[in-house]
Amino acid sequence: METRRNFIKKSVVVCAALSLPLPGTANGQTIHREFKIRDPKRVLILCYSQTGFTSRYGKLMGCVLQGKGLAVDLADMRGFDPKLLTGYDLILVGSPVFYYDTPANVSDWLAAIPKITGIPVAAFVSFGGPEGNQHNSLCHILHLLAEKEGIPVGMEAFRSIPSYPASWDSANQRSGEHLPDDATYHRVREFAGEILAAVKQGRVATYSSELALREVVRMLPLVWLNKRAITRHTVDGSKCILCRTCEKKCPVDAIHPEKRLVDHDKCLACFGCLNNCPADAVVMEYGGKKLYGFPEYLRRRQLTILEPPEFQHCRTG
Ligand SMILES: Cc1cc2nc3c(=O)[nH]c(=O)nc-3n(C[C@H](O)[C@H](O)[C@H](O)COP(=O)(O)O)c2cc1C
Ligand code: SF4
Ligand code: SF4
Repeated sequence: METRRNFIKKSVVVCAALSLPLPGTANGQTIHREFKIRDPKRVLILCYSQTGFTSRYGKLMGCVLQGKGLAVDLADMRGFDPKLLTGYDLILVGSPVFYYDTPANVSDWLAAIPKITGIPVAAFVSFGGPEGNQHNSLCHILHLLAEKEGIPVGMEAFRSIPSYPASWDSANQRSGEHLPDDATYHRVREFAGEILAAVKQGRVATYSSELALREVVRMLPLVWLNKRAITRHTVDGSKCILCRTCEKKCPVDAIHPEKRLVDHDKCLACFGCLNNCPADAVVMEYGGKKLYGFPEYLRRRQLTILEPPEFQHCRTG
């Protein structure tokens, strides 16, 4: 089964090779090549993160770059004013992969930023499965940044525990639940160093989406289909402590705990509310089965997420 799937995948990729991009172009688009600066001083690491993996990797990159003498700002995309982007010499954008792509709220946000002409940009994603279409999600982020005249200097994907509650019991879940490990963090540190070296050397990264099978699946209305499977989604007023974490985590302002209400039309089925509620008060049923969130998953599996040693002393703004 695995072999057959790989064979089909490779065949599709070979077909896609017929449309490989020209050097200096990404997805057919010419990359702006004039670096604003080759000796960066101010770095912005901008993350969207629901269960904390992407921001953990972003923070570690910040620690590495700070250790190399750079001033680092680590920010959550949702509260960040895009007008401030042009004040930085290097921008790293991090996101999870959701539904085989960059989450819609991330791509919408990036599509609306002002021009960042000549600023080197890098992308990183955290993802939950080897076939999660992370490569194309990275290309998507770089493409959006290049459209705003940022200069791509690199991209990388880091695997973590899959945070998708409807598949807590899958084999993929088990294969990823020891992550991130030391090797993941080692690669994160390396990546930060490589990005800085690329900027100093004026090296532009080229990238190209692959026509993988997952890319075909991505064309389906996955969020819409998933929302059909969510048979109940509300707030249990008897458990809710009104901490508002779900509101803060919701990327589209769809959950209102004081009214015990979820706006199902707006909802992106990202499970951010369920995965972050400390009181088990977000109710979600998937195909009639009651789901539980990430804190409960960690508790039931007796998992502790490994933190990099740098976090004991490093402070990023
Ligand atoms: C709604 C949802 C959809 C997901 N879809 C994918 C996917 O298509 N491919 C993948 O590799 N991982 C997928 N994942 C797993 C996440 O990408 C992964 O757990 C990531 O590290 C979460 O990052 P965060 O902790 O920064 O939110 C999904 C998780 C959620 C909650
Ligand atoms: S996160 Fe949970 S406890 Fe906090 S406001 Fe939302 S539903 Fe209530
Ligand atoms: S209400 Fe929907 S969009 Fe908002 S956090 Fe919950 S699942 Fe995500």
